Amino acid sequence: MHYHTLGKIPAKRHVQFRKPDGSLYHEELFSTEGFSNNYSLLYHCNAPTQITQVGKPFSVAPKVINDEQLKPRCLKGFKVEARDGYLESRVPVLVNNDCKVILAAPRRSMTDHFYKNADADEVVFVHEGSGTLRTMYGSIPFSYGDYLVIPRGTVHQFEFDGENNRLLVVESNGPVTTPKRYRNDFGQLMEHSPFCERDIRKPADLETHDESGDFLFYIKKQDIMYPYHYLSHPFDLVGWDGYVYPYAFSIHNFEPITGRLHMPPPIHQTFDGHNFVICSFVPRMYDYHPLSIPAPYNHSNIDSDEVLYYVDGDFMSRKHVERGMITLHPGGIPHGPHPGTVEKSIGAKETRELAVMVDTFRPLLMTEQAAGIEDGTYFRSWLPDTVANGVK
Ligand SMILES: [Fe+2]
Repeated sequence: MHYHTLGKIPAKRHVQFRKPDGSLYHEELFSTEGFSNNYSLLYHCNAPTQITQVGKPFSVAPKVINDEQLKPRCLKGFKVEARDGYLESRVPVLVNNDCKVILAAPRRSMTDHFYKNADADEVVFVHEGSGTLRTMYGSIPFSYGDYLVIPRGTVHQFEFDGENNRLLVVESNGPVTTPKRYRNDFGQLMEHSPFCERDIRKPADLETHDESGDFLFYIKKQDIMYPYHYLSHPFDLVGWDGYVYPYAFSIHNFEPITGRLHMPPPIHQTFDGHNFVICSFVPRMYDYHPLSIPAPYNHSNIDSDEVLYYVDGDFMSRKHVERGMITLHPGGIPHGPHPGTVEKSIGAKETRELAVMVDTFRPLLMTEQAAGIEDGTYFRSWLPDTVANGVK
């Protein structure tokens, strides 16, 4: 991240900053890791502390299934039911103590409440649908293929253009950043990075609602949702500056790194979290050594779980793939291309595949909700058809 500012701010921090009527604006320092990491300074029309009512909290903790966690899995993501509300539509499917993989198919915009995740940064990948992410820092229009990176504590609302929306959400208990190896000492993305600052879309159109009334926030903390009523509108900033703010990055702007021989998964890395990474598999030219095999080799990622979310296009190493499908290949057992796909890939010049990968260093646990959309036979999908047909 780098410095950004919107609206009006005083010439120095922590000094008197007055409204046209002579009264003071309310300064808020927003930091995400104590006082020692990135922060922004926000200037509110009204104090951000005016709670009028605290509603009854309720749990949104994922319920994890208890057995058979060491198993390749396949989830039919588009079978997750569409729901009216954004928050009620979010279904956690794979979770651990570092991150949660969530699927959501919300129909309606958030109009009468706001959302704040007090625990986790969120990366929202837009598979279907478009609209505007409205936040206290300003608005970001989004459409198919956008990653929306929302730092913890950002009060926001999703406004959708239509009813058909499909989102993949990754909640991260640590800050989500760009990979460190792509940044120089000053934070600038370097020449070998598959994207650069011009691809990062920052908030614009700062809204300043100097309004009092009854404003309902849903605040998520430790897997409990707290309904809080505040006296003033959360989007009441007259200005802000700093390094903490939401942004968008389109997967279509990820420039793939290719080679003569098969390149390993880290070349697809897009974001870094604590103990996990998010990668983008995008259309690209295949390996160009005369004897290259474009399909990946079998691999034993003994210490990491690998989640692939299939977005669009053909997937050269897998059979029976459909949009919105998730596969989980757990650490501890090898996985690789499906029968026949290695031979088929030889001589191919390019792939049109589009997918998001989440690799975690700690095992992911499947939830009860995910059990309902699982293809329970997936673990046998590497068998030759002649054998698979005979297995009960
Ligand atoms: Fe893999």
